[in-house]
Amino acid sequence: MDAAAENIFGRLARGLPAVWRRVGSGAPPAEIDGAEVDAAEERFRRFAPALRAAFPQTPWDGRIRSELLTLAPQEGLPELLVKADHALPLTGSIKARGGVHELLWRIEEVARAAGVLDPDDYASLLAPAARAVLAGETVMVASTGNLGFSIGLVARAFGLQAEVHMSHDAKAWKKERLRRIGARVVEYQADYTEAVAGARAAAAGRARTHFVDDENSRRLFVGYATAARALVAQRAPRGPLPPPPAPRGGFLPCGGGGAPGGITFGLKRLLGAAVVAVFVEPVASACVLAALLDPRDPPPSVYDHGLDNRTIADGLAVPRASALVLRAVGPAIDAAVAVPDDAMRIWVRRAWTRHGLRLEPSAAAAFAAVPLFLAASLGEPALARATHLVWTTGGSLVPQEEFAALLDGPA
Ligand SMILES: Cc1ncc(COP(=O)(O)O)c(C=O)c1O
Repeated sequence: MDAAAENIFGRLARGLPAVWRRVGSGAPPAEIDGAEVDAAEERFRRFAPALRAAFPQTPWDGRIRSELLTLAPQEGLPELLVKADHALPLTGSIKARGGVHELLWRIEEVARAAGVLDPDDYASLLAPAARAVLAGETVMVASTGNLGFSIGLVARAFGLQAEVHMSHDAKAWKKERLRRIGARVVEYQADYTEAVAGARAAAAGRARTHFVDDENSRRLFVGYATAARALVAQRAPRGPLPPPPAPRGGFLPCGGGGAPGGITFGLKRLLGAAVVAVFVEPVASACVLAALLDPRDPPPSVYDHGLDNRTIADGLAVPRASALVLRAVGPAIDAAVAVPDDAMRIWVRRAWTRHGLRLEPSAAAAFAAVPLFLAASLGEPALARATHLVWTTGGSLVPQEEFAALLDGPA
């Protein structure tokens, strides 16, 4: 390992923020085919009538879409665009994109094989014949909270059984919310990597069971990647996005890497090097940063580098990066920023009091990374002038008492 990498690991071990920047990143390797993303977009389109019918109380068109907001320059920050996935329909987090996509793929596969899918009427998946088939199916997944909720909620709405293996980081209210909709929750006194291994082992050999493997799933990955085209087609309320080649940093909260990896793949496919993909992790759980600095197969765990994976950002509390993500976009990651918990707390408050954005700490991490990244990029005037994009990945469904505790907690 070189001196720069050792310096970064030294900072992380002391709980300090760190910025890693790659000079001259490449295009995503050929691991994932762009056609897989197009197919995922089509799947979301086909399922819109079924999703609308499955969740009639949500005023929506059945499409999992979020707004693009513009925030005026403020103390310490330039003008920012905000991709508001914290307010995505149904599940209030970015996990609706990948998790729901994989679930829809499974529903389609099962229903087609059983002859209960009418290709001209997807809403018929909610009719008794299809429900009878789907009720015999189980979907299993490990989660720190949001992935399990996204999959569990939609699985239950279509009548599937859902079993969610929750790491010790998962908040009690996230487990309770799952139980209320009839999902089975398996609790671990262990971290996310162990919960994934436990769920994988429990699913192995079980009939009519699909395991959503967050460490290896292409379907999760391409589900996240669909966000890119929607974003590129979107216009911020205060005017059009500057066209490429104007560089733009995308600040992407990162756990195991599936969500930011998929989005990076999707954006680079459409905009190329004009997108500067910045992965944002908690200092204690900087597993993608560790894998970039210390590349191995399987990727290193943060514990190997003296970190403890303890963070208030429960959604990002992942000790080992996804090997698939590293293969699919590793060389295309431009930067990684590790942010301390205190900075996330501050940004939960600021995002709320200044902008009315209700974010969980995992999502607030994206804001916390901006000043750190810009300070480290002073030699790049084009970046300093650019309008950057902050991806707010979750939080609109945090219960009031939990949110109040985040606002009132230690400074
Ligand atoms: C709110 C939030 N943001 C970001 C992420 C990161 O996603 P990934 O683990 O796919 O990198 C998660 C994961 O659960 C999350 O819940």
